[in-house]
Amino acid sequence: MRMVDIIEKKRNGGELTEEEIRFFIEGYTEGTIPDYQVSALMMAVYFKGMSEKETSTLTQAMVDSGDTIDLSSIEGMKIDKHSTGGVGDKISFIVGPLVASVGVPVAKMSGRGLGHTGGTIDKLESIPGFHVEMTKEQFVENVNKHKLAVAGQTGNLAPADKKLYALRDVTATVDSIPLIAGSIMSKKLASGADGIVLDVKTGSGAFMKSLEDAQALAETMVTIGNRLGRRTTAVISDMDQPLGFEVGNANEIKEAVEVLQGKNVADLRELSLELGTHMAVTAGIFENDQEARKALEESIESGAAFQALKTFVDAQGGDASVLDDMTKLPEAAFDVEVPALESGYVSAIDAAAVGTAAMYLGAGRATKDDTIDHGVGITLKKKTGDYVEKGEALVVLHSQSKDADDSRAKITEAYSISPEKPESRPLIHKVIK
Ligand code: URA
Repeated sequence: MRMVDIIEKKRNGGELTEEEIRFFIEGYTEGTIPDYQVSALMMAVYFKGMSEKETSTLTQAMVDSGDTIDLSSIEGMKIDKHSTGGVGDKISFIVGPLVASVGVPVAKMSGRGLGHTGGTIDKLESIPGFHVEMTKEQFVENVNKHKLAVAGQTGNLAPADKKLYALRDVTATVDSIPLIAGSIMSKKLASGADGIVLDVKTGSGAFMKSLEDAQALAETMVTIGNRLGRRTTAVISDMDQPLGFEVGNANEIKEAVEVLQGKNVADLRELSLELGTHMAVTAGIFENDQEARKALEESIESGAAFQALKTFVDAQGGDASVLDDMTKLPEAAFDVEVPALESGYVSAIDAAAVGTAAMYLGAGRATKDDTIDHGVGITLKKKTGDYVEKGEALVVLHSQSKDADDSRAKITEAYSISPEKPESRPLIHKVIK
């Protein structure tokens, strides 16, 4: 088999066979097929697409390129949740303990953040002592005992994806739906969960800006998951403005804790209950969505969900007492208000720009070797649809410097203000099973 023939076939719109897909994935992982040929193939896929069968085969070949995690020694149906990434997205810290508290086993592999979206592990590490380093045996034991554990991604999960993603990043072939779907699902499948609930974001702060693209990505991922034997559901949710009011690390943990303690931060509570309901029903703990939702709401009200967070933090070395006294979480030296330049309604907030402003403060990484400052971040004082007077604060920057000029400029750019109140967008656009 020759790589040049595979490139030519895809360039002409042909459907690749399993042998052809496995040939290039295996060859590329081993280093026998060069970057320039795979780049050409990625560009051909970008223009010609892939069938459902090709996309599933590509995903399975990427899973088979490395290790897979065997979670069979964990009792019950293990559920993983994945978000395609957003700004202020602290849903995992709410929904993980929430579903664990009603008996859903959650064995989660998470990553660190890069660019304008923060990483789950970075945020959790705001809690003094918390770590994700543990043996496989400890991970399994923690899930069996507490129903929730979070581990860092190991080096060997889907190595083909790691190489391909780096190549796509520099060859303008990232935003191809079959390639994104295969990339995300290969890592999820290799992580071993039986059921997967995907939170696919759409809007200004998301990978998929339009609802049509988000829907196409969600449908492709659900098809791959179900074809490859995992019960998969996707919720398409809005990321046209940041989720909740806090963007950063420690301040996002604080806001998640408040929701688990019963505070009604509307978008966070609603999306957590929606995703949690699908996770609990997929796990077979409840017969239907209504029963699951009721149990989850009761778990917040009774304090069981908050207790599940404390137990999980303690089991991974964290000081759970900070969750009762959140003044012990890291804090920045200065609070800097960014005022509105005119009066009117907030008509849009560019979530990606808010994420970038937080990164400038030190809450995220511009390159993978940067270190994170857990105490800095942004509190939104106004969200879309709110009225603001000229000079009133749009946000408060939690900064280590008094001026924070570049973040201030970015926030001013992120907010659009208009005389008319904007139409509100739904939080949950669609559920795809
Ligand atoms: N996230 C991934 O993991 N892969 C992609 O291709 C895009 C986003």
